[in-house]
Amino acid sequence: MSGIVVLISGRGSNMRSIVEAGLPVAAVVANRADAAGLEFARGRGVPTEVVDHRAFASRAAFDEALAEAVDRRSPRLVALAGFMRVLTAPFVARYAGRLLNIHPSLLPAFPGLHTHAAALAAGVKIHGATVHFVTPELDRGPIVIQAAVPVLPDDDADRLAARVLAQEHVIYPRAIEWFLAGRLTVSGGTVTVAGGREAQLVFAPAVVA
Ligand code: GRF
Repeated sequence: MSGIVVLISGRGSNMRSIVEAGLPVAAVVANRADAAGLEFARGRGVPTEVVDHRAFASRAAFDEALAEAVDRRSPRLVALAGFMRVLTAPFVARYAGRLLNIHPSLLPAFPGLHTHAAALAAGVKIHGATVHFVTPELDRGPIVIQAAVPVLPDDDADRLAARVLAQEHVIYPRAIEWFLAGRLTVSGGTVTVAGGREAQLVFAPAVVA
């Protein structure tokens, strides 16, 4: 087993940050042929594959085809990066302990969609992103690293999303590097990083665009 398979559905900027960090991406798999990130991957000579969810009668059938595409690359790690399909329990179980996701909030706050609007509506003053191991419960797995950003008075969801996204691009490659170096241990639902003193938290600067 070697390398990472990255699953995307759209823009693919997190996948791009992983490729640009020099991490060993064995393939990028998308559930839509029009996922913009595919073009970047192809341009970098990274193998790509499309498993279109609309071609399958059920979530289970789609997940089986997806798992076949993933397994063809025998990856050590599967990284969800803006992959917008909820995965079935058998898929999650198959990659238990080697399936990561990035979520645009400080989990466990704001699971699910529209996290930036939800953060603004809640009036929180700090927001961010989380890389976590995927478990059957959506957006709930053990947390590897988080990035915190300020919520500024004149923010709208787009401005806040952009500030968070810039930090996503910092923390996802870092989490993957730790994983591939065999430095992550999950115990009792929490993650520690062995053999170093790097923080599992990144604070974005207070004054940002
Ligand atoms: C990111 O905000 C990620 O956290 C969320 O979906 C978005 C995907 O963006 N899961 P991209 O496709 O990586 O640019």
